[in-house]
Amino acid sequence: MESLKDPDVLSLDPETPFWERVYMVSPLVVVGTRNEDGETYNLAPKHMAAPMGWADYFGFVCTPRHKTYRNAVRTGVYTVSYPKPSQVVLASLAASPRTGPPEGPRRKPTLDSLPMLEAKEVDGVFLEDAYLFLECELERRVDDLGENSLLIGRVQAVHVHKDAVRVSEKEDEAVIRDAPLLAYLPPDRYATIDETNAFPFPAGFEK
Ligand SMILES: Cc1cc2nc3c(=O)[nH]c(=O)nc-3n(C[C@H](O)[C@H](O)[C@H](O)COP(=O)(O)O)c2cc1C
Repeated sequence: MESLKDPDVLSLDPETPFWERVYMVSPLVVVGTRNEDGETYNLAPKHMAAPMGWADYFGFVCTPRHKTYRNAVRTGVYTVSYPKPSQVVLASLAASPRTGPPEGPRRKPTLDSLPMLEAKEVDGVFLEDAYLFLECELERRVDDLGENSLLIGRVQAVHVHKDAVRVSEKEDEAVIRDAPLLAYLPPDRYATIDETNAFPFPAGFEK
């Protein structure tokens, strides 16, 4: 086997922010947590987020500097909303800067204009009109991944908009065409996915 020496393939320094030099496909979710006042809620977009296995675990990467991390660790719960492509601006607004005195309380005023829905099983809120909603109980966390941490929760409840559910009477391709998906292409682009193809699994494939 030849070694990787194609002059068209560049080796980047892993000590530099190399993820910013190349695009890839990520999800974009909005994580909801309850603030320490016990009354208000925080929403923040996260793209380093995924199911942790085939069963009921969901994790996301977050820096402990963010309120999302502190709220989730303190309350032990968080929610996850998967926005539709039409909600990309709302998801982005959830990352607006905080205002207020450095000694606190510092607020994200844009959250006041984001429509929210109450969760059912855990103390939390969702971004209204998203298409997939998870209610999670924090199960464990992995700290010190550089400046970040991985928070893993167990999914206690899951809700899906009926237009996004796979049903036997409708082709999967049509489900996605009628309820397109939002992809985030870090560091600075997004895409609407409405055209898809069946994956070419190898014969005899089992997961
Ligand atoms: C498109 C987008 C994706 C983001 N993804 C992540 C992420 O995966 N992990 C993270 O820690 N922060 C991520 N952020 C940043 C925070 O979610 C954001 O700065 C947020 O306001 C932090 O606020 P908080 O203090 O309310 O938690 C992302 C921001 C944007 C705009």
